[in-house]
Amino acid sequence: MKHLQGSPWLLAHRSMLKPNQPKKFSLFGQDYVLWQDLQGTIAALPNACPHMGAMLSEGWCVTQPQGSSRIACPFHALEFDHQGCTILPGSSKQTKSLLPPLELIIQGDLIWTYGGYEPKVPIPELMNEIASEYEFIGVTGERSIPTDILSLLLNMHDYNHQNGTHRELFEIEEVQVKQFIDEGLHSHAYLAQPRKQPTMREILKNPAQLALPKVLEAHLENYFPFMGVMHGDNKILSLKECHFYLPEFANRSRIFVLMYMQAHSPIAHLLKRNLLKLIDVVVEQDARILSQIYPHTTQRIRLNNEAGMDWVRRSFEQFPSAR
Ligand code: FES
Ligand SMILES: [Fe+2]
Repeated sequence: MKHLQGSPWLLAHRSMLKPNQPKKFSLFGQDYVLWQDLQGTIAALPNACPHMGAMLSEGWCVTQPQGSSRIACPFHALEFDHQGCTILPGSSKQTKSLLPPLELIIQGDLIWTYGGYEPKVPIPELMNEIASEYEFIGVTGERSIPTDILSLLLNMHDYNHQNGTHRELFEIEEVQVKQFIDEGLHSHAYLAQPRKQPTMREILKNPAQLALPKVLEAHLENYFPFMGVMHGDNKILSLKECHFYLPEFANRSRIFVLMYMQAHSPIAHLLKRNLLKLIDVVVEQDARILSQIYPHTTQRIRLNNEAGMDWVRRSFEQFPSAR
């Protein structure tokens, strides 16, 4: 975990923060509380109250006359502003900052941070382009998984695990990596995935089977170590499935997926909920396998199509240098 400092991390999409409802998150072994006030201003402070260590994320928000809000500690109700200052009982004076605020970079609805470390990798423009050109359909697959960030990233760039981890979902017969473009910490994988042909019975049971192509084509665009975007297009819709990864602790990592689409047919709108659910199942299956592997096993067998994992391993070793 120690050498991923300097990467940007997407903490949340604004829709994940209900106004005045504190949310806890962890990054590099530190817990923080994140909250959004009624005016849409977002702040983050270390989560341990400087009085006696209670979790501020378990507290509540107190709206000030001018509309911003302070976070109140659940133990003795001290209130902290965005700068981590409080007013002690019996005093009318504000203290100096007792909790150093975490620096956030807010781009539209996207809440990024470098976790307080010096930036070494830029925040990609891609997410702003997607957010401005596509309709946001929602957040899905949010999980905190008991696995280290390297194991999580290897899984996300392993193009063979459809056959095992996700076998019932897509009925993919094989995965062909048509092209892998390695641009240092940025890469593209173009995949072709022939599917098992549905039987007459399966088609009768689920006619939507006919709408699925015989070969699922996918373009994955990867930004090491924090994001992977699946670009998908068909006649009904264009989809941007944006995965975000965060190292919470040495042995715990967080993932969530932001889904955006462009509808090419009115049917697309009917599929939104199914899409969110489908990806939630996919992430659940990934989370399950990640809790069922021995993470530091020496790999003694190599399969085809492991270019994505090679890219992850090299990027991890050499981070923040690109090659
Ligand atoms: S522990 Fe937070 S106010 Fe006492
Ligand atoms: Fe997966």
